[in-house]
Amino acid sequence: MEIDVRPFDGDSRAFFEAGVLAFSERPHEADMPSWDALFEPDRAIAAYDGDRIVGTAGIFSFDFTVPGGVLPAAGVTIVGVHPTHRRQGILRRVMRMQLDAIHDRGEPLAILWASEGSIYQRFGYGLGTTRTRLDASRERGTFRLPHTPAGTVRFVDVEEAKRLFPPIHDALLPRRTGFFARTPAYWDHEIFHDPEHWRRGASEAWHVVHEVAGVADGYARYRIRDAWDDSGPKSTVVLTEMLATNPAAHLDLWRYLLDIDLMSRLEAWNIPADDPIFLSVAEPRKLGMAVSDGIWLRIVDVAAALAGRRYGTAGSLTIEVADEFCPWNDGRWWLSVEDGVPVAKAGTDAPDIACDVTDLAAAYLGAFSFAQLADANRVRELQPGGTARADALFRTDRAPWCPRVF
Ligand SMILES: CC(C)(COP(=O)(O)OP(=O)(O)OC[C@H]1O[C@@H](n2cnc3c(N)ncnc32)[C@H](O)[C@@H]1OP(=O)(O)O)[C@@H](O)C(=O)NCCC(=O)NCCS
Repeated sequence: MEIDVRPFDGDSRAFFEAGVLAFSERPHEADMPSWDALFEPDRAIAAYDGDRIVGTAGIFSFDFTVPGGVLPAAGVTIVGVHPTHRRQGILRRVMRMQLDAIHDRGEPLAILWASEGSIYQRFGYGLGTTRTRLDASRERGTFRLPHTPAGTVRFVDVEEAKRLFPPIHDALLPRRTGFFARTPAYWDHEIFHDPEHWRRGASEAWHVVHEVAGVADGYARYRIRDAWDDSGPKSTVVLTEMLATNPAAHLDLWRYLLDIDLMSRLEAWNIPADDPIFLSVAEPRKLGMAVSDGIWLRIVDVAAALAGRRYGTAGSLTIEVADEFCPWNDGRWWLSVEDGVPVAKAGTDAPDIACDVTDLAAAYLGAFSFAQLADANRVRELQPGGTARADALFRTDRAPWCPRVF
């Protein structure tokens, strides 16, 4: 039977069930309230075989931080095609419809976390941020310099965490590229949602806040994966999120996490590439840090995206962008920055550099420089000094980082 790909128009539970089946999972009743609270049915696309959903794609409408600003971004989620219907081009059709709809809506960016890095580049998604994994031996977590705590750490229950965590996150939003704004519903139904099947054998989440004179300026949420053998405790602290509004609180929280008795390891799946922990410990190698892909970013509208961020210097640049999947982006774009204000429009000057739209995405938030991309044979310099000019403009102080998978 012909597969019909169209905007979703049915029961949200059926969509959810079809979506998780693509990940070879069964739906959990405990997840339904969260799904009902956050699902945006009017932005969902489904592939139907008769009246059965066999493919899904949803969107969370995010406000997303880019260098010096905030832009609307489509947070692409629950993308899947049933194992019975794969490799027949359904995802390609879903992506076509979804990116057209995002473009029609005037959203300049789309972002997603990929189950496999090779899936989305063909649709113009590039490596927008990285994430860094940490797998540290606790014994080797000594700081190189003596550490004097700036404040104190205290356990809070979920209700208090719901009150104290969001302002800390929100204080970081304007400072860290790659964050999306969290609504109260998102905090309740995603961040503090803690069903058994999300724990992967570890404990319920613990919540601690860091305080100075009674004012909370950092928090950590973690689990304990319990393990013992005859030689003693072998338990692991599994960090799910740690944020602080200032470096002193951040280091105090690391110290706290590394100093919990009876733990032998500390694991984190996603910390920023430039987290100060690497520079703080005596044995950086023992932190077991490894870089991986974070958010995949799709620049849906090149001109709006270029005009929507801020730049490291004044100047102008012409980029020849190749975009096979979204031909409205394919061509020459001129960016000029004066007095901190960017203007971006279709260009006529000889291009300084040429790249694919995926590579522009990799440079856009500051994850990679154009020089790095040129070294990887992804960006071509067409005018002498073009790459350096592009890097001076796009330079950012901090690595972009998204703390949360969606
Ligand atoms: C990934 C998935 C959605 C692909 O769906 P699909 O309908 O089989 O994909 P299509 O047939 O439209 O393939 C589109 C293109 O992507 C490629 N592709 C599809 N899945 C791929 C994968 N897992 N890895 C690498 N390439 C993949 C296809 O080869 C095809 O390439 P082409 O256009 O050059 O011919 C499907 O395999 C799936 O549901 N996987 C499990 C859930 C999952 O990982 N979802 C993604 C969450 S981020």
